[in-house]
Amino acid sequence: MGIKLLALAGSTREGSFNQRLLDLAVAAAGKAEIAVTPLKLADYPLPVYSHELEVSAFPEAALALKAEFVAHDGFLIATPEYNGSISSVLKNAIDWLSRPTGGESIIALSAFRGKIAGIMSASPSPFGGLRALTHLRQIFQTIQTLVVTEQVAVPAAHAAFDGPVLKDPLPLQLLDGLVRRTAQVAAALKA
Ligand SMILES: Cc1cc2nc3c(=O)[nH]c(=O)nc-3n(C[C@H](O)[C@H](O)[C@H](O)COP(=O)(O)O)c2cc1C
Repeated sequence: MGIKLLALAGSTREGSFNQRLLDLAVAAAGKAEIAVTPLKLADYPLPVYSHELEVSAFPEAALALKAEFVAHDGFLIATPEYNGSISSVLKNAIDWLSRPTGGESIIALSAFRGKIAGIMSASPSPFGGLRALTHLRQIFQTIQTLVVTEQVAVPAAHAAFDGPVLKDPLPLQLLDGLVRRTAQVAAALKA
């Protein structure tokens, strides 16, 4: 299809359920022959966003992460739910990446505008991070990224995984659909 997806989880926790969910999405993309670049936010240590830092010393890690977003057509993102919203590490990354760099206009949003996202969440709660998914959708709307209607929420994540594997086949099927739709819409938008 000629499109490239970037895949990342909004958790840097060792043994993260969301990283495991993302790894399954990346595997599904691989099976469907969709080009996907997995990256880890832990490899891009970002300070908490501040205007002072932005104007005096824009972090190299933020520039490098932004370059990855700019170079891809869409995103597969697994977010934890923290107090009914997305994780702070993910929000902080989005905030840095939404800032103009290299003389861009304030509304350029070059990391996000016109791109596609497929979103997923795993949580120990019975709701599987649904509130975080709703917030992530809303944030993407603000920064001009289309989010496909499909999404995957894995409840009771502590019992849902057996190591890297999901015990129930249903979320895996949903994950496959999510990944394929994200790639399809990205390809249609690029055409
Ligand atoms: C600060 C904090 C707030 C949390 N709030 C919620 C919440 O609102 N809803 C929920 O389902 N889980 C909540 N949790 C539990 C996380 O879903 C759980 O820690 C999960 O394992 C995080 O995702 P990860 O495994 O990918 O790191 C919270 C955890 C932390 C640390």
